[in-house]
Amino acid sequence: MSAARTSKMTEKEKQILCVGLVCLDIINVVDKFPVEDSDTRCLSQRWQRGGNASNTCTVLSMLGASCGFMGSLAPGHVSDFIYDDIRRYGIDVTNVIVHAESSLPASIVISNISNGLRTILHTNRNLPDVNSEDFRKIDLSLYKWIHWEGRNASEQVAMIQQVEQYNATVPAKHRITTSVEIEKTREELYQLFGHGDVVFVSKDVAGHFGFNSASEAVKGLYNRVKPGAYLICAWAEKGADAMGPDGVFHSDAFPPEKLVDTLGAGDTFIAAILFSLCNGKSIQESLTFGCQIAGRKCGFQGYDGIVQ
Ligand code: ADP
Ligand code: FRU
Repeated sequence: MSAARTSKMTEKEKQILCVGLVCLDIINVVDKFPVEDSDTRCLSQRWQRGGNASNTCTVLSMLGASCGFMGSLAPGHVSDFIYDDIRRYGIDVTNVIVHAESSLPASIVISNISNGLRTILHTNRNLPDVNSEDFRKIDLSLYKWIHWEGRNASEQVAMIQQVEQYNATVPAKHRITTSVEIEKTREELYQLFGHGDVVFVSKDVAGHFGFNSASEAVKGLYNRVKPGAYLICAWAEKGADAMGPDGVFHSDAFPPEKLVDTLGAGDTFIAAILFSLCNGKSIQESLTFGCQIAGRKCGFQGYDGIVQ
């Protein structure tokens, strides 16, 4: 993109960039969780593009946000499927890096429609995550918000520092807001608490630290985030809580009539919150919107249908 085009870009036109995983989800829909060593016929089976950052992009784009995905892919038939799908949603793939020698991560998902629960068997043999050198090559002036799904955390901290250095050189209205998601209970990821203007922590991680609710978690973990940041914790059917410099906030969940598919509910929740905060809404409004959209998503398979 030319310098002239970039400088004319309004804040509204700038993208939200999500950095993290894209993978193949092979989803097996059942009405009863299978017994080991049994032979079960599924109600249906489908391929779906997955991965937290990639799912978050799907929902952002459905909500009407201009967004891009940054992550790694391995070439082959599966990658063709993923590229076609990601383009179908109008998600920018300029920053996708292809690793010729690797294989693509995949998940076998058992989606139980009688309770909406999803069981994931994930494999990632050898696909490297994008690193701070890859990130250095991107044109930061195209983005208003960058979100990282916590993975190779030390590299991701270096990426966030690049954004901080960039922010120090531009007027306040051109600064990029940053967010991180700490979903997995892996020691390496906990350094991400101290980075990001918005930090999402999962109930699994909260539980690992000994907290039994979202409200306990945001209060108990708030001393780990940087000054002025928001810490947000979603708790499935209990909704979500947030804590920031202006206090503690809560939204109840908005359960659908029937729980059908909770796969990617957390990724949907993050997308809706980013979308809402980007549009200038308050943290309370955004938390409520996050729960509304994520709750709606749990009422059907996949993501199409989020916008009614
Ligand atoms: P994940 O496990 O996919 O990361 P969470 O369980 O933390 O996601 O849920 C994220 C959000 O999705 C919750 O804050 C809630 O708004 C919504 N959600 C998830 N499960 C349910 C449910 N069973 N009923 C209603 N809303 C739900
Ligand atoms: C849902 C998801 C799936 C993927 C798995 C990876 O949040 O991103 O799409 O298979 O998690 O852990």
